[in-house]
Amino acid sequence: MPQKWDELWKNSDKIKRWSIPDYHFTDYIMEVENNFNQLKALDMGCGIGRHSEYLAKKGFIVTAVDPSLTAINYLQQKSIDENFPVQIFQGDLTWLKSVEDNSFDLVVSWNVIYHNTLSELEDALKEFYRILVTGGKLLLTLNSTNNIHYGKGIEIERNTFINQKKLDGEHPHHYSDKDEVDRLLRNFKVLCLSEDEEEVGGKLFKDRWHWYIFAQK
Ligand SMILES: C[S@@+](CC[C@H](N)C(=O)[O-])C[C@H]1O[C@@H](n2cnc3c(N)ncnc32)[C@H](O)[C@@H]1O
Repeated sequence: MPQKWDELWKNSDKIKRWSIPDYHFTDYIMEVENNFNQLKALDMGCGIGRHSEYLAKKGFIVTAVDPSLTAINYLQQKSIDENFPVQIFQGDLTWLKSVEDNSFDLVVSWNVIYHNTLSELEDALKEFYRILVTGGKLLLTLNSTNNIHYGKGIEIERNTFINQKKLDGEHPHHYSDKDEVDRLLRNFKVLCLSEDEEEVGGKLFKDRWHWYIFAQK
């Protein structure tokens, strides 16, 4: 799995687009606290680290994790060049098992956990809940069954597809409807939930509907 992401993260156009924080993310962050200084944040599946960088520059103590060596090397170099602190690990969602309970004030996982089967996605949410402090915040995206790619490719389980024609399609994509989102987040207090078309680096991807979630433990 990491090899494919490694390939994608070597593409300079992709790097350029995925360097700009998502506006849902930056809007939600403004709601987190008045004073971010010294809050501990985890960026799970950080990619090249657009949100890790944003958080570190705001004063969060940031841990960034991704399976792609190309991506984390890029982030490491950028953090040196631009002098922002971030602790970086290579790992996938299983890395969460090494984290103690109540370790983070904020967990971000943006366009990540739906690249899995439903049970893996559910496990990730349980782990996010466990490692957050009480009152800690979760910033998350899920894929929507209204997404234009829903139903395309091979359905490996209900609502999870492998679609080799899509750039990142060799990884499973799980799509959730509103009932499932509510069920997945039942342990959290949902502070904001919106279903929007995806925008990356200022480019709108029409009909790529995602769930944008701001929740609290
Ligand atoms: C679409 S990119 C998003 C990157 C970043 N979160 C962002 O918003 O810029 C998806 C990232 O998820 C990572 N990823 C995929 N499956 C993962 C898993 N099981 N555990 C952790 N990260 C994963 C990939 O390596 C890739 O960097």
